[in-house]
Amino acid sequence: MATLLHLDSAVFPQNSTSRAVTAAFVASWREQHPDGKVVYRDLAADPLPHLDASAAAAGAEDTLRGHLAAELAAADAVLIGAPMYNFSIPSTLKAWLDQVIIVGHNAGPDGPVSGTPITVVASRGGSYAPGTPREGFEFVQNYLDKVLSGMLGAEVDFIVPELTLAHSKPEMAELIPLADASRTQAFTDAAEKAKALAARLAT
Ligand SMILES: Cc1cc2nc3c(=O)[nH]c(=O)nc-3n(C[C@H](O)[C@H](O)[C@H](O)COP(=O)(O)O)c2cc1C
Repeated sequence: MATLLHLDSAVFPQNSTSRAVTAAFVASWREQHPDGKVVYRDLAADPLPHLDASAAAAGAEDTLRGHLAAELAAADAVLIGAPMYNFSIPSTLKAWLDQVIIVGHNAGPDGPVSGTPITVVASRGGSYAPGTPREGFEFVQNYLDKVLSGMLGAEVDFIVPELTLAHSKPEMAELIPLADASRTQAFTDAAEKAKALAARLAT
């Protein structure tokens, strides 16, 4: 029985692209694993505390950090909704990372998260794709790829619904077709990637 750890971090509970796409991923995952387990954390609705001195010093001995690290280690796959806020990840997601990554416990190439597939749904209002003017301002994929693979040894994959603000910003109106195509692709990717991952973990 496979376990999926699902994290959302978009501040808005409604009309959130990352939440909608992670939900589609979970629905596809559940189709493959009707008896599978999905552990859910809404980091926006129930934020974790910032890492403080005592928790940092305690490492896995800290009750919360030990619990979060065990929850992550027990997951066969992880799904993270990570909207772009001010070119980077939501602070609630950063709080989770700071709590859960424990050097000497789960960091490093041979740790318990090594090889765990992590799918990130990285929604953003604009586009930061290679070749766009804002390419160099992209600190969601660039950061999460490095921290999740570099610190935890995870296998990281991205679904990137972009230009989500095109429908609400008149100056982006001409980008609506691209935004709609990106959204459609994100839902297709979510369904297909979840199915492929579920099949892989079942073998
Ligand atoms: C506080 C805040 C900061 C944002 N900063 C950026 C940004 O730097 N670049 C960008 O392209 N979009 C930015 N946006 C737009 C969001 O990335 C966009 O609305 C995205 O769809 C949010 O994810 P969600 O749809 O999953 O809620 C920001 C939105 C908020 C609320």
